[in-house]
Amino acid sequence: MAGPCTQILSADEAGLATAGRMLRDGQLVGFPTETVYGLGADAGNDRAVASIFDAKGRPRFNPLIVHLPDIDAVRALVQWTDLAQAVAEAFWPGPLTLVLPMRPEARISKLATAGLDTLAVRIPAAPVARDLLRAAGCPVAAPSANPSGKMSPTSAEHVVRGLGRKVAAVLDGGRCAVGVESTILGLAGRPTLLRPGGITEDALAQVLGRRPAARKGESISAPGQLRSHYAPGARVRLNAADWNAGEARLGFGEVESDLNLSPGGDLTEAAANLFEYLHRLDAENPDVIAVSPIPHLGLGVAINDRLSRAAADR
Ligand code: TXA
Ligand code: MG
Repeated sequence: MAGPCTQILSADEAGLATAGRMLRDGQLVGFPTETVYGLGADAGNDRAVASIFDAKGRPRFNPLIVHLPDIDAVRALVQWTDLAQAVAEAFWPGPLTLVLPMRPEARISKLATAGLDTLAVRIPAAPVARDLLRAAGCPVAAPSANPSGKMSPTSAEHVVRGLGRKVAAVLDGGRCAVGVESTILGLAGRPTLLRPGGITEDALAQVLGRRPAARKGESISAPGQLRSHYAPGARVRLNAADWNAGEARLGFGEVESDLNLSPGGDLTEAAANLFEYLHRLDAENPDVIAVSPIPHLGLGVAINDRLSRAAADR
């Protein structure tokens, strides 16, 4: 797999140039986005994309999101529509992924799409991510940079701890600002919400003119859709109105706790802290992490989605 040890690259001109070259050379590079850290590879290189699945232990039927620096690069790969343009103008760059029919001539590894004729595309907002995408000069396939089924990484340290030497280098851009993954909107048919995330359903509805349809059935077009996902080592107990002895206590709002996602009850702050605090509590090896109730509105929908999967039977 990768070399003797993971290179930590700083997010300056030299680090970006090195990371870009490594991607072009077919290596795996961890990099920050505003949502979570991605595990990037050249999306046109079959061997490089295969090594993403190997490093994560990810089932091969789960397709990847392709990251691009601007709309022209996106439009070269997918069939664009007026609706896609409107949504893109409202939310890109940012924590939104669009699934659109792929152009037949697009040179994307079949492994990245898991053989589907649609492609998930995203323009991240984090300047480091976009600088890296420009430096690489190729479409970059990137799932979250964690072992499959485990907690998502929101710092370079999380990436190294989770994947170790399976990743050649990690570009260190500090902590991720949004903290939950992108919202995934299917636009290949009627607009469908495939995964709640950093852009709220209300915000999407404003641009779409109506709420997106809910995803139907359990057929898996997104791995974050598997019931058990985002799991810490500890069991997770949700909607904890009070605490049991010995539990690690993850609070929200005005409660006594070990770590508090947002003492003031701010969902944006809570999302940004979610995975960092789960990682920190889990590092103490508790049997159970108990979590305060999180309001199911706005970003709370994405937070509750991640927490309920973290709590699901494994
Ligand atoms: O915020 C994010 O989206 C992060 C950062 C790194 O960009 N990435 C991320 O990737 O969350 P990942 O692999 O953990 O989740 C990608 C999701 C999966 O649930 C996958 O099934 C879905 O995107 N996906 C990819 N291609 C798809 C397609 N053609 N149709 C439907 N879902 C697709
Ligand atoms: Mg993931």
